Amino acid sequence: MKSNELRKHFFIFIIFVAAVSFVLVTLPFIEPILRQYVVGFFGATDGRMGETAGSLFDTLLKVIKILIWMGLIFAVVRFFNSLITRTILRNTGSSELTTLLRNVISIVIFVVSFTIIVKSQFDTDLTTFFAGSTILAVVIGLALQDTLGNLFAGIAMQADQPFQVGDVVNIPNKGTGTVENVSWRGVKIRTFQNKIVLISNAVLGKEAIEVAPRDNLNARLVFFNTLYSVSPARTVHLIREVVRQVENVSPKIRPIVRIRNLGDNGIDWEIKYWLEDYTKYNDTDALIRMRVWYAFQREDIHFAFPTRTLYIENQSLEPNFEESASEIFERLSDVPLFAPLTDEETRKLARASEAKIFSPNELIVRKGDEGGSMFVIHHGSVKVQIMENGFPKTINTLSEGDFFGEMGLFTGEPRSANVAAAEETEVLEIKQAALKPLFDANPELVEALSKTIAERRALLAQKNTENNQTTEEESKGIFNSIKSFFGLS
Ligand code: CMP
Repeated sequence: MKSNELRKHFFIFIIFVAAVSFVLVTLPFIEPILRQYVVGFFGATDGRMGETAGSLFDTLLKVIKILIWMGLIFAVVRFFNSLITRTILRNTGSSELTTLLRNVISIVIFVVSFTIIVKSQFDTDLTTFFAGSTILAVVIGLALQDTLGNLFAGIAMQADQPFQVGDVVNIPNKGTGTVENVSWRGVKIRTFQNKIVLISNAVLGKEAIEVAPRDNLNARLVFFNTLYSVSPARTVHLIREVVRQVENVSPKIRPIVRIRNLGDNGIDWEIKYWLEDYTKYNDTDALIRMRVWYAFQREDIHFAFPTRTLYIENQSLEPNFEESASEIFERLSDVPLFAPLTDEETRKLARASEAKIFSPNELIVRKGDEGGSMFVIHHGSVKVQIMENGFPKTINTLSEGDFFGEMGLFTGEPRSANVAAAEETEVLEIKQAALKPLFDANPELVEALSKTIAERRALLAQKNTENNQTTEEESKGIFNSIKSFFGLS
């Protein structure tokens, strides 16, 4: 309401109050004159008739006074009601809920005032009337059972304020929609099919209601699936970026893309994202699904189909990770450590090595474990880590063509550090049995290896600040322990 309209209401209210007050103040002065006139008029012929007319006049006047007082109280209550609505509650979302409370308070004021005014005029205590008439109370109570139930449930809700106008609520078996109005009778909800659902407060009080507050960042889950041959790390990265760009997805919280289940047909995924405007969650969910489809088309990623035949057919897609022997041969040929080997020896080594894939941050080698094999990085990179104050600390990073795990394998000691994939990483695992004949034939291999191990140990020692042996001494010691471990002369 505009301020000049409020001012107009205020003037009407002041004039009304002034007029009523004037009547109430002047009434005691006019009353005896009027009474005298009435008694005189009717008692001119018969004195008893004049008395009766006098007492009837008294009663009428009392009723008029009660009406005037009630009118005054009604005006005051209404004025303050509208004042509160227009000013204090104008900017709060809870005005509909507060209307209920204001109505209840107004009714209580009217009843109490009426009781006091009647008592002052007729000397009759209405409280005894209300309390005493048990049968009346029972009759009224039964008649108003539902109405009162709704009213009290409404009052309880008002105290609790579980939701407000504009919130999205889901009421079991009744539907989901936006709260449009809360009254003493019930709640009005506009569903997403643009229908109105009215639910009484009494029914509402018995249900478990799910509320998505209007001024809250509410989250949603959207599901999809991929074939087992699609890399999870790639899927997470791709879908997260896709979801971030969808309209109405809140930029304040990064969407989460995670594996829900390893299902019969493929990997089951869920996307958790937060909405700016929750009332549009259906459209946003749909848009996300659509964008996922397009992203999959671009990246040649496939949804999982519920058929076993498809799984068998898709075995041909597996070579994503199952590298052919020639690719492995090329990789091993590039490793400087294996440079002294002949092509035939390298080919043998390639056949004996096994390609394994690891997700980002997954441990490939754990400190303290027994080391029965070494690894060559085929794709990706790894972090060599030691523990510092209970947290992993990266001391070195190795990339494609580098090797690790040689210390445990060649010295027989437990693994000296953790090695974790820095990104999605594919490694070639080579077991001791495949290496032994090569060491017999190529003693220079042992020497090169000893050097690498010594350098790495020195760095480890420096980081651990334990070992104070020199690198050269180390190298000699390692050389001997490799020879003895492999039983070389
Ligand atoms: P191993 O001890 O078998 O297991 C952990 C591996 O981490 C270790 O073999 C080396 O291959 C590797 N490693 C240890 N320290 C370093 C380092 N300083 N630089 C590079 N790699 C290392």
